[in-house]
Amino acid sequence: MKRVTLVDVFKHRITQKYLQRSGINHAVTVAGYAFDMALKKGVDPDLATKSALLHDMGHYEWYRDGKWDYDEYRKSDIHAIKGAERAHKLLIRLGEDRLVAKEVSVAVLLHTDSYLPFGLEEKRTPLQHVVAKADEKDEQPMGLHHYKQMDKSEALKRLHELDLKIEKFLQDDDELA
Ligand SMILES: [Fe+2]
Repeated sequence: MKRVTLVDVFKHRITQKYLQRSGINHAVTVAGYAFDMALKKGVDPDLATKSALLHDMGHYEWYRDGKWDYDEYRKSDIHAIKGAERAHKLLIRLGEDRLVAKEVSVAVLLHTDSYLPFGLEEKRTPLQHVVAKADEKDEQPMGLHHYKQMDKSEALKRLHELDLKIEKFLQDDDELA
């Protein structure tokens, strides 16, 4: 089966719609961190980068009367739940393997525990851990990481570079098997 690439995922209209809200820069930067961390931790970089790219696609508008209201937003935030569902739907539409779609969706669901009545530290799988740590690495106070800018062409360039590295990794891995 042909691999669904990060570029395929990024170009889809569902991704374009939802990534605008949480920020393309943050999504692409976290995908880059996730690739490096995945290699170090022995995690599949294809799963890690897809989860990282899509981890915040459940964000919704947090403006109130045209003003940014982060505290208000956080009180009612369920973006990880929404994101998990959106990521799953998107990947299935792109023809992604069902097991991959599930793993990515659960990694999106568990990338934060801010909406849960308990913590997830020590409970995450290595994939889920990599995605949560990669996200943390790019976080800024008051959610400012969601406002960093990046052109679509720059995002596509970086994701294509990641795709090439992932494909090389998967090929080398296959040859060793
Ligand atoms: Fe994030």
